[in-house]
Amino acid sequence: MEKIVVGIDGSETAQQALEWAVAEARLRGAGLVVVHTWQQPTAALMAPYAPVLEDPAAIEELARRTLTDSLAAVDLTGLASEPEQWIVQGPAAPTLLGVARNGSLLVVGSRGRGGFAGLVLGSVSRQVAHEATVPVVIIPPTARAMDATDTDQEDG
Ligand SMILES: Nc1ncnc2c1ncn2[C@@H]1O[C@H](COP(=O)(O)OP(=O)(O)OP(=O)(O)O)[C@@H](O)[C@H]1O
Ligand SMILES: [Mg+2]
Repeated sequence: MEKIVVGIDGSETAQQALEWAVAEARLRGAGLVVVHTWQQPTAALMAPYAPVLEDPAAIEELARRTLTDSLAAVDLTGLASEPEQWIVQGPAAPTLLGVARNGSLLVVGSRGRGGFAGLVLGSVSRQVAHEATVPVVIIPPTARAMDATDTDQEDG
């Protein structure tokens, strides 16, 4: 079965990438793999503060909730199979590319939760675009995603 891999980070733009991936999986009768990666903040790796600063179980729990909440917000009807949910500890772009290596398509949003306003692509989408060995789709934010970051804006 064909596999479509999509990366999510809890942002509205990633949510739209997920929606696009679901629709495409439906059209192709393909399987869907939803991936969320996480990394220890570097400060937390410095002894003796490690145990106090970040609890891996808590991070893992937050990661799981990000996946669950994102999937709960989309209509999954008509898919050939239940989406696979992957939580992976590691850097986002290389991990997504690794998971997608045997897939047919990798889908990401153009931007995510972090970063500097004004950039067209974030570091993850940029790295994915540069290093991809599978077809990549980059979903730009629509008006809805813009609204999520700029609540003062009103459209007509
Ligand atoms: N931790 C992650 N796990 C899975 N996918 C991710 C992760 N982070 C980002 N992505 C994917 O990459 C897309 C672009 O996010 P990216 O991180 O490049 O932008 P940004 O957060 O705005 O900028 P930056 O992280 O460079 O400050 C997201 O919409 C999502 O699809
Ligand atoms: Mg990011």
